[in-house]
Amino acid sequence: MKSVLFSRFFILLPWILIVIIMLDVDTRRPAPPLTPRPYFSPYAGGRGGARLPLRRAGPGRGREQRNESRRPPPPEPPQPTIYAITPTYSRPVQKAELTRLANTFRQVAQLHWILVEDAAARSELVSRFLARAGLPSTHLYVPTPRRYKRPGLPRATEQRNAGLAWLRQRHGHQRAQPGVLFFADDDNTYSLELFQEMRTTRKVSVWPVGLVGGRRYERPLVENGKVVGWYTGWRADRPFAIDMAGFAVSLQVILSNPKAVFKRRGSQPGMQESDFLKQITTVEELEPKASNCTKVLVWHTRTEKVNLANEPKYHLDSVTIEV
Ligand code: UGA
Ligand code: MN
Repeated sequence: MKSVLFSRFFILLPWILIVIIMLDVDTRRPAPPLTPRPYFSPYAGGRGGARLPLRRAGPGRGREQRNESRRPPPPEPPQPTIYAITPTYSRPVQKAELTRLANTFRQVAQLHWILVEDAAARSELVSRFLARAGLPSTHLYVPTPRRYKRPGLPRATEQRNAGLAWLRQRHGHQRAQPGVLFFADDDNTYSLELFQEMRTTRKVSVWPVGLVGGRRYERPLVENGKVVGWYTGWRADRPFAIDMAGFAVSLQVILSNPKAVFKRRGSQPGMQESDFLKQITTVEELEPKASNCTKVLVWHTRTEKVNLANEPKYHLDSVTIEV
């Protein structure tokens, strides 16, 4: 009897050991996380929500992120909203330009797009476009008076002023939230890095602009962290020899200079930037961005006029398509 028991025991022993080892291995597998993993989508946080690429990164950021699973980080201070004022007008390439612009802006956290149509009313094309753009936005319109619609005269004066007026009206009655304003023409090309740079604007910041003024680039000349002159090939006598795409202004400065606007009277093409900046700052006060103004992060690209020579006058297409 005893020997039978012993032999059964030795037959079963390896199986018992195998079961014990398997159970042990299974319990060593990491447990599934209690909280769901963070999911980063370009649309996370809804309209204007935080997006990964433009989070302000600091040294040791990777380590911080790993710790996040244990203890939530202290809330980051609210970052300034970037207000982009874009004048735009109806023409064959308008929707294409606005599409490129929206594709860029959608990747920038906390950006509010102020789109100002040069028109007597909001157009259906722009209204529909904005409704689907997935961006926090404000849609304004103001027509340029006919007498100013001539070659050689400054463009988009009334539209930029309408954007400024909206900002002042919206923020005038309360202590200003941190904000930065810049003028984003609809045909330029903007790198995402540009928005990181301009977001830290304290008063007025400046940076180089590519493909402008008949040169590969124009830029503010910087010495010891201060702007001391301008690298430009066109009207170097301008007090601020800079394109509209080359500067940003803090919301606070816009609010504390309520009369600063773009002027029609006496304004010459290419002088609008200087005329405006003169009202709110001095050259000595400017804050150089983009590595002391040594990097081009925005390009004054201009879209070629499209050839519509073969558009039919009769025998039109059987459907009407918005382009
Ligand atoms: C240059 C500057 O980069 C502009 O900032 C400046 O407004 C312009 O000169 C000027 O002469 O006033 P440029 O490429 O020649 O730019 O000008 P556009 O791109 O044709 O126009 C600037 C902005 O105004 C664009 O966003 C455009 O859509 C808008 N615009 C232009 C209007 O709203 N209405 C118009 O009749 C023409
Ligand atoms: Mn342009």
